[in-house]
Amino acid sequence: MTDIITQQATAAESGAAATERFRSKQRRESAEADTQRVDTLVTELLTAAHDIIRRHKVTYAEYDALKSWLIQVGEDGEWPLFLDVWLEHAVEEVAGKGRDGSKGTIEGPYYVPGSPQLPAETTLPTREDEAGTPLLFQGQVTDVDGTPLPGAIVEIWHADSDGFYSQFAPGLPEWNLRGTVIADEQGNFKIHTFQPAPYQIPTDGSCGRLITAAGWHAWRPAHLHLKVSAPAHQLVTTQLYFEGGQYVTEDIASAVKPELVLDPAPAADGSGRKVTYNFVLDKA
Ligand code: DHB
Ligand code: FE
Repeated sequence: MTDIITQQATAAESGAAATERFRSKQRRESAEADTQRVDTLVTELLTAAHDIIRRHKVTYAEYDALKSWLIQVGEDGEWPLFLDVWLEHAVEEVAGKGRDGSKGTIEGPYYVPGSPQLPAETTLPTREDEAGTPLLFQGQVTDVDGTPLPGAIVEIWHADSDGFYSQFAPGLPEWNLRGTVIADEQGNFKIHTFQPAPYQIPTDGSCGRLITAAGWHAWRPAHLHLKVSAPAHQLVTTQLYFEGGQYVTEDIASAVKPELVLDPAPAADGSGRKVTYNFVLDKA
């Protein structure tokens, strides 16, 4: 039943929701970029484009196809999706250089702040008949020198077993598979959830047209999204993947790093799978 409802998610709907979400967040640094920096970056970007046009002898037909596609990306509301799939990983790589703690990776377009606060041992909000393999995700948050960080905050969000995110696909409870978990006095957390499925970026919009035109696939490997933080420490935004899972070695968003691949074991009581992953935070 649930997939019949949720599969009606269209590029336009999830794009509009992702655009709205992006607009409401506070990261507005671009407005303050200095003239010199804008000049350098935009000139280099345009020069790279001119170079590609000359080297590949781009035709007017191709130029018009590009123009029409770019217009359509905006109309479909797919800029957040396009940018987070094909550019964000490079920005994250630059931002994460020099950190000693846990590896980060892209945030993607589906983070929503303010998810329900939950205790250190908890079950994420789920539907009564939530489908999929139960997953116990547990670990500890420490400083780079191994000191536990009491009261660390582990924000987690992920897709369901059909690959859909609450608030970005119709028919899902508002906070399904999203939570803000407060670790205990030792920085420990124990989160009961369900194994997510690989995520297919919407194929009925402009990004889908590009993927088809280029002969690519539209998939991201199954993943958990996390933001882990503690007072006086740097927040890390990351994702965790599953060993042997489909698309782990061919993520369309290029966001997988070897340190971020989990290898869950069968739970001792036979109820699904269980895995431990510890987070290490750099000092602020
Ligand atoms: C996109 C979706 C994700 O779930 C993600 O983690 C990264 C990017 C996207 O559709 O752009
Ligand atoms: Fe995601």
